[in-house]
Amino acid sequence: MNAEEIFEDEKELSYYEHDMCDAIRHGMCVSKLASSVAAALGMNQDMVHRIAVAGMLHDVGKLQISPYIYGRQESTMKIEEMRYLRLHARLGYDIVTNQGYETEIAQMILYHHENYDGSGYPYQLRGEAIPVGARIIRVCDVFVALISDRPYRKAFDTDTALMMVIDEVRHFDMKIFLTFQRLICTSHILEELDGILHEEIPGMGTELFSGK
Ligand SMILES: [Fe+2]
Repeated sequence: MNAEEIFEDEKELSYYEHDMCDAIRHGMCVSKLASSVAAALGMNQDMVHRIAVAGMLHDVGKLQISPYIYGRQESTMKIEEMRYLRLHARLGYDIVTNQGYETEIAQMILYHHENYDGSGYPYQLRGEAIPVGARIIRVCDVFVALISDRPYRKAFDTDTALMMVIDEVRHFDMKIFLTFQRLICTSHILEELDGILHEEIPGMGTELFSGK
């Protein structure tokens, strides 16, 4: 292995480490927010728990396509890359199904990119044909992504992020959206999300991934 190859490996590892930390924080935030929305909607404890689990694992399928998406510095994707990335919903479904998770949890992961107006993927389901847990995760996923730093842009502030989700409201279940919006505006959930996104998580530092 020559120096250039070692350098490339190290570069890839540092991307991987950075992206893995971001992915874990993202999952924790979506899990926290989506389960809070479910509780605010009056769902029972079992359902709230399922949504918390699916929120944490919704993007687990991306692990199988990581070379395509980790380390990206640009916001734009080629059509083939987009198509490839879109496989992550089905891959995530397969992973959690093989691991013995409940069907409801696996389905929330499979359908977490479906939009209420039928413009999502992978099956262009619309309305209540989309499982309710997936509808909850959908809006929380978009919002958390907007308030998070990305390699190619800084996080949007909360007000801007809320305006941006309002612009896309046709993608969301209105009852769920209004509950989400009320929760954001009237509770301390934003402070909790801010803590998850920015505070150091013990054991999730360089040592864990670099083998030091
Ligand atoms: Fe996703």
